Amino acid sequence: MNNKPRNILVTSALPYANGPIHIGHLVEYIQTDIWVRFQKMRGHQCIYVCADDAHGTPIMLRARQEGIEPEQLIARVAKEHRADFAAFQVGFDNYHSTHSAENQWFSNTIYERNRDAGHIAKRTITQAYDPVEQMFLPDRFIKGTCPKCGAEDQYGDNCEVCGASYSPAELKNPVSAVSGATPEQRESDHYFFKLADFETLLRTWTRSGHLQTEVANKLDEWFETGLQEWDISRDAPYFGFEIPDHPGKYFYVWLDAPIGYMASFKHLCDNTDGLEFDHFWAPDSDAELYHFIGKDIIYFHTLFWPAMLHGAGYRTPNAIFTHGFLTVDGAKMSKSRGTFIKARTYLDHLNPEYLRYYFAAKLGAGVDDIDLNLEDFTQRVNSDLVGKVVNIASRCAGFISKRFDGKLSEAILEQALFDDFAQAGDRIAEHYEKREFSRAVREIMALADRANQYIDEMKPWVVAKQAGEEQALQAICSMGINLFRVLIGYLRPILPATADAAEKFLQIEPLTWDALATPINRHTIGKFKPLMTRVEPKQVESMLEHSKEDLAAQSAAAETKPATDSALAKEPIGETIQFDDFAKLDLRIARIVKAEHVDGADKLLQLTLDLDGETRNVFAGIKSAYAPEDLEGKLTVMVANLAPRKMRFGVSEGMVLAAGPGGKELFILNPDEGALPGMRVK
Ligand code: 2FM
Ligand code: ZN
Repeated sequence: MNNKPRNILVTSALPYANGPIHIGHLVEYIQTDIWVRFQKMRGHQCIYVCADDAHGTPIMLRARQEGIEPEQLIARVAKEHRADFAAFQVGFDNYHSTHSAENQWFSNTIYERNRDAGHIAKRTITQAYDPVEQMFLPDRFIKGTCPKCGAEDQYGDNCEVCGASYSPAELKNPVSAVSGATPEQRESDHYFFKLADFETLLRTWTRSGHLQTEVANKLDEWFETGLQEWDISRDAPYFGFEIPDHPGKYFYVWLDAPIGYMASFKHLCDNTDGLEFDHFWAPDSDAELYHFIGKDIIYFHTLFWPAMLHGAGYRTPNAIFTHGFLTVDGAKMSKSRGTFIKARTYLDHLNPEYLRYYFAAKLGAGVDDIDLNLEDFTQRVNSDLVGKVVNIASRCAGFISKRFDGKLSEAILEQALFDDFAQAGDRIAEHYEKREFSRAVREIMALADRANQYIDEMKPWVVAKQAGEEQALQAICSMGINLFRVLIGYLRPILPATADAAEKFLQIEPLTWDALATPINRHTIGKFKPLMTRVEPKQVESMLEHSKEDLAAQSAAAETKPATDSALAKEPIGETIQFDDFAKLDLRIARIVKAEHVDGADKLLQLTLDLDGETRNVFAGIKSAYAPEDLEGKLTVMVANLAPRKMRFGVSEGMVLAAGPGGKELFILNPDEGALPGMRVK
């Protein structure tokens, strides 16, 4: 395979700065990271940048709801994101923010150059306006009745019941999800990017090998429909960058988000000797540029982005690599089943390399969704990684340490077998290069089977007992160790931490792809320590339970919002319910007779509640705010007719109402002492 040194810049989509990383996000970061690590191992310059996507209405409202500045929110979330990525070994060369000086400069420049070239139009549009909050409402913040099928509580852009798309003005009985007020229609000047100016360029670009076939086909449909002008401005109040020549108007978050790729890279250049921004972004650049994205954001990356770049005199990407979504056990991730798993919750229970391996074993170059089947996950990690790969080293290393002082033999015993392993390198590299990771894994595991077969046949444990066979024993085990070294090298992009531990045990430099074809002879290795342990099904169960517990804690914080608290009143109101649904709620006064810590639960307290003679056991996610002794004897309000829910720690028989932004500020409802346990509240 041709392996000329290349200069490559790679990005993953920027995560929004208002929520945690979950395993659905991780498909992309792990996919990208494997590809980048592979390129680095091949000796190429491959730079991987990313950033938090920090602007937009949801972030502004979320900060307001927490009673903090958006800057404080994005700083906190950035810290969490960085820690999660680091734990999953996602090795960014730079992680920045779209709320940065570099991003503002590039956003202004790209806008101004497109404007000066005539690609920006101004139009007055009529839009929903919340008279209470004094803000224009994004479609997602308007709810109402579907104009097509009459379903209630539908968002302003499409109906989840009948699938119809419409404009928010068509919704019947619209309400603002921010304040509950009826929106007015108001006029405002907006700025539009004239995408159709780039139609010829885009039609050629999208059919010149920059996109997967499925994606290019999708684009043909969009060309058929016609390229619409893109609204790139938003009115104040908005958390973002003000448009240079239009005070009170801000760039729409999706304008400056992809520009964040450039900003992050520029930030890296400014901190790295010899790294030149223009070398990667000039129109005649011979460096390669790739964006990994999910299939929901194709339009932005394959149409707006290349057009904006071209219009501003920058190069366009070599390719956009699109992947599918993640399902868990065959279904969309679900909070109630516990399969909406945050990166942090996963890390509390399982080794991140398991997930990296499992995703790699499932990922191809297409846009199909991938499924995390938890039983298959357990079985596959145990049988492939622990049972096959690590086992090779553990079967041979003990003899080398104990009988030969760690020294490997002079030469390879089975040259032909070793050569087969070395020659597989080109095929495996090709699979990695084409993002056919599942094929690479299949090849590597077939080699692992052959290595184990070799050891089975040579029976070092029998040879070890035979007098005068010392040299044979050393040669067999050295052969096994050499095969293990090649395998762990091939797996290195997928399992960086395990490969690092293996390199320490083998006492070798970090493996490069080229080095794998040369065996290590007459070399002293260290003492073997198990490189990976089995996944136990109970760890997976516990992770699911904790994910449900996260949800319980979250809903305890979100249960009620006192109307007097203006910061909280600003939280967008969720789906509305009918009076009949409300009437079904049996809210009762309860006395907390006992409150206890729950072994192994970070967020829960176990409450024993008295409802005038009837006792209930309830787990409540309020540990961050209350010590058990603060609660005993107090009255509170509970949902008494909630169906019992089985949790990891026992059955929860109801729910206690609480309010507050979370953490220490979480308040259980505490009625007047005149109230009596068992009394109905409504
Ligand atoms: O869809 C998302 O999660 C966006 N935050 C992705 C932005 S990718 C890039 F354009 F910045
Ligand atoms: Zn509908």
